[in-house]
Amino acid sequence: MAITSTIRPCCSHLLLSQIFPKYPYHFSKSRKYPNRYEVVAQAASTAQPLHPTLDPVPSTGLPTPILLHGLKPLEISPLLPFPEKSRTVDPVHHEPTPRTETVAEREAWKLLNRAVVNYCGKPVGTVAAADAGAFKGELLNYDQVFIRDFMPSALAFLLKGDTEIVRNFLLHTLQLQSWEKTVDCHSPGQGLMPASFKVRAAPIDGNASGEEEVLDPDFGESAIGRVAPVDSGLWWIILLRAYGKITGDFSLLERVDVQTGIKLILKLCLSDGFDMFPTLLVTDGSCMIDRRMGIHGHPLEIQSLFYSALRCAREMLTFNGGSADLIRAIKNRLSALSFHIREYYWVDLQKLNEIYRYKTEEYSQNATNKFNIYPEQIPDWLVDWIPNRGGYLIGNVQPAHMDFRFFSLGNLWAIVSSLTTPKQAEGILSLIEEKWDDLIGTMPLKISYPALESDEWRIITGSDPKNTPWSYHNGGSWPTLLWQFTLACIKMGRPDLAQRAISTAEKRLLDDNWPEYYDTPTSRFVGKQSRLYQTWTIAGFLTSKLLLEKPELASILTFEEDNELLEGCACRLSHNGRTRCSRQTAKSQLLGKRA
Ligand code: GLC
Repeated sequence: MAITSTIRPCCSHLLLSQIFPKYPYHFSKSRKYPNRYEVVAQAASTAQPLHPTLDPVPSTGLPTPILLHGLKPLEISPLLPFPEKSRTVDPVHHEPTPRTETVAEREAWKLLNRAVVNYCGKPVGTVAAADAGAFKGELLNYDQVFIRDFMPSALAFLLKGDTEIVRNFLLHTLQLQSWEKTVDCHSPGQGLMPASFKVRAAPIDGNASGEEEVLDPDFGESAIGRVAPVDSGLWWIILLRAYGKITGDFSLLERVDVQTGIKLILKLCLSDGFDMFPTLLVTDGSCMIDRRMGIHGHPLEIQSLFYSALRCAREMLTFNGGSADLIRAIKNRLSALSFHIREYYWVDLQKLNEIYRYKTEEYSQNATNKFNIYPEQIPDWLVDWIPNRGGYLIGNVQPAHMDFRFFSLGNLWAIVSSLTTPKQAEGILSLIEEKWDDLIGTMPLKISYPALESDEWRIITGSDPKNTPWSYHNGGSWPTLLWQFTLACIKMGRPDLAQRAISTAEKRLLDDNWPEYYDTPTSRFVGKQSRLYQTWTIAGFLTSKLLLEKPELASILTFEEDNELLEGCACRLSHNGRTRCSRQTAKSQLLGKRA
């Protein structure tokens, strides 16, 4: 097992260090891929120059939106520095009046700042957990900066007006992107982003006594299960857009290395394979649920993040001859993906009844039961559980297989990115409201529902002692999901629901020292192996509070319905002779039909 992607940062600067703040540690003669300098140099020579001198940041700091396809900065002034005491508007005098931070907020900010990781004297991320006393000091990899875990930290900092750490994070993780790595003689795709990285001290070459800091990434080669983190690159793209929108610093987005980074991630995701579906095919555990949980194939979480990242990338890619094909491919994939998810992942009472009456073994292009689902797959729990009103996107759809479990992150992110129809989005929130005790209970939010038990647990998790029923990924409750819930509620005009969930969590999180997760069907216990002082629990809470206070800033992450994408899919279906191609068809097909 070898990985050669450590970055040594604090060394002399080459010409290209103007593009990359730092350069990589190892240069191997036998490497399979061109290194990042070569990739970028190549891109720079074929693309229209963005900035003729390749100067990384034009000093004006003014946004230059003409180069980007569709990204717009926020219309409101985004970065009014938040004072120590946040502000609310006094309804009588219309004057901002200071709102005193709660005890939990004060404590959370203290802990979040303490979790910051520095590299060469600059903040670059936050550790996953700062629980020194945990499990006899056994840190596993909780002392690392995880890409996905940093999302709520990044947002808390951005919403508070502190942008430097996010910018540093984006650029340093970019350097780590799939850098000449091999795992047991195999090289994963070049655009892969690491799951996490660590700052460690390493001896300086030729100086026996000296040490310097290096960045050490983990692409899954050390992670339990050795799974590649497919979600990392998607989160990176989503964060890049959020950073661009809130700061207006489009110069960062237009940099050749950043544009190349986006394209490498997209290349991995959009490459042709054996797939019949527009959904992204991945192995088990390639996202937040990073252990075996029966989510291989086309899990919802990855599809929602994929859709969101594609929409972000479409806005951020710069205009030049080379990007036209890519932008077309993105648009086609977006149309097909939303059609597929809206049509085949959605269940409500009516759809369930349809599945219940499915005929099987239909051989034809016009089959109703396209994936040959046997109605016996409808689990007993769902028959009673599905409410009369509302519905949700199921966890996975594959040939002869529907995973009917409810996965929170995928459903919430489908709302945020407009992967669902507006009506479906409303339906998901109303299901959550209806099933509040099951999904939120005494601690928001269940990661998945219900738990796998008995034989299912043995077969599907491989008897995983950490994922026992109603624990950890298997029906545990993860307070970090609060910020994604808040975001979805704001998007759908239901901040009251988010407020209710936050109030449930606030005091308990503080009293319990910010656990990573809770166990039992009603989340009554702190999780069996849960870390305390888990950073994304802390940051998720703060981000939720900040978003509720400035709901207009939610738009740095959300997307509205895009009729052009709807038309794209309806038109292509019409070419199969099935429907007429028009804006009206698109709407009725994807908005009106079922939900
Ligand atoms: C666990 C979680 C994963 C998270 C990591 C660090 O492995 O499953 O989603 O990124 O811990 O907190």
